[in-house]
Order: sequence, then structure tokens, then C-alpha cells
Amino acid sequence: MCSPEHFAVEYAINPWMDVTTAVDAELAVKQWDRLRETLVGLGHDVHLLTPEAGLPDMVFAANGAFVVDGTVYGAQFKHEQRAAEAAAHRAFYESQGWRFIAPSETNEGEGDFAYLPEAHGGLVLAGHGFRTELPAHAEAQEALGRPVVSLRLVDPRFYHLDVALASIDDENIVYFPGAFSAASQKVLAQLFPDAVVADDEDAMTFGLNLVSDGLNVVLNSEATRLAGKLKAAGYHPVPVELAELKKGGGSVKCCIAELRH
Ligand code: ARG
Repeated sequence: MCSPEHFAVEYAINPWMDVTTAVDAELAVKQWDRLRETLVGLGHDVHLLTPEAGLPDMVFAANGAFVVDGTVYGAQFKHEQRAAEAAAHRAFYESQGWRFIAPSETNEGEGDFAYLPEAHGGLVLAGHGFRTELPAHAEAQEALGRPVVSLRLVDPRFYHLDVALASIDDENIVYFPGAFSAASQKVLAQLFPDAVVADDEDAMTFGLNLVSDGLNVVLNSEATRLAGKLKAAGYHPVPVELAELKKGGGSVKCCIAELRH
């Protein structure tokens, strides 16, 4: 995770960002800190990246890389405003001794990649259409040695995979079908017949931008309806308020890069 000390909306690279909206960085830090405490309270180790002035989106740590089985596939940002973030993530992984594979294709890390260790023997789901480019999916498959299923995102409001789909345990997902092309919806229905299906409202409240340990599902507090659906499916929703960061187009999952040994 990376503290939003320098968080601001200085440019607009997704439909949620409006440069005329005032951002309260102090409040953003407070809310983000509650998220960090929530994860620690659930028993997770949280490592911190040092936020850098001039990189207002650095709080969205999920975009910096994608890790599977101890191997790190690095990010290469689409927009130049965020390009320098990749080096900070790389330095973190290299200093910690992770196997790091530098990308040569545009991809935004866990923003567009999800991993399900028990689904079909270990499956990567990958989004394209807005940020990550299709050749990065093939590059990730070669880097990580896991099948990568390409899914096409079609709704600009849901410009990253992680605002439209999330793993809720090692083999199942929750997703909003309307964010995907008709063919990709068919693929998801075939692979995940027992998925929790979200709707437009669930997605608009950033409910899908969640992290789950298989039982506890940490999600944006605005997503009360989706929390109800997850509860009915046997999960334990843990709401966290992240209203300031929503102005940047992100929520819970965007703030967290998962480290998978
Ligand atoms: N303002 C950031 C951007 O548009 C938000 C990134 C959200 N991160 C995510 N994993 N969806 O790049």
C-alpha cells in the first residue's frame, strides 16, 4: 500500500476524475489508514511504499505489478502521468528479493489482472480495452506460466478489470457482466457458473473493487447492496469508507497490491 499524502485530481484519465473537484488529502489519508488498519486487524502484513510528490495516483498501488507464486510481472502504465510509479514498485520487489520480470507491453498490474489459484488448476483473468493492451496478456502468461483468459472491457466507467470483477476466494468471483463484451460474458459464465453476479448499482458504488481472504470481503461502504449479496453467498462483508479516493476513480482493491508467495 502507499499512503495518499500526495493524492490529488490533477489530470483526468478516467471518467470518475474531475479536475475541478476539491480533494481533501488529509481525509483521504485518514480513510486510507482505516483500510490499512482493517487489513492488519484481519491478520495481514502490510508493506508500505513511500509516496512521491508529483505522483498523485500512487495511492493506487494495485497498478504497480502483478504477483503470482513469487514471480512479479511488472507494470508499464498507459498514461505518462503515472509512468514513473512503475520504478517505485520495481525497487520494492527487487529489494525484497522477489523474482521480477520487466514488461515490454502496456499493462497496469492488478488493475487488470486477477488470480484464482484453485479455479481450473490456477487461472489468471485479464482485462483489456482501456488500459492494459492485449499483447500484455500473452506476455503475462509467459512470465507467470499460468493460463491467462483475456476479457474485453467495454464500459469506460469500468476501465480496469478490478472495478468490474474480483476474486472472492481461491476459485470463485463476483463480477458485473455489463462491463464486458458479450463474448467475454459468455466466457465468464462458462468458467464461473457459481459466480456472484453484480449489477450496475453495485459496480457504480465501487463494490467490486474489493479484496477477500476467502471469507472476509473488504469493500467500499457505499456498496451496501453488494455487501448483502455477498453475505447471502456465505461471505463476511467488511465495509470501509473511501469516499475521497473515489474522486480518483478507485477504492479498496486499487489501494492494495497483493503479495503472493
Ligand atoms: N486515477 C487512477 C487511474 O485512473 C485510478 C486507478 C485505480 N486503480 C485501479 N486498480 N483500478 O489510473
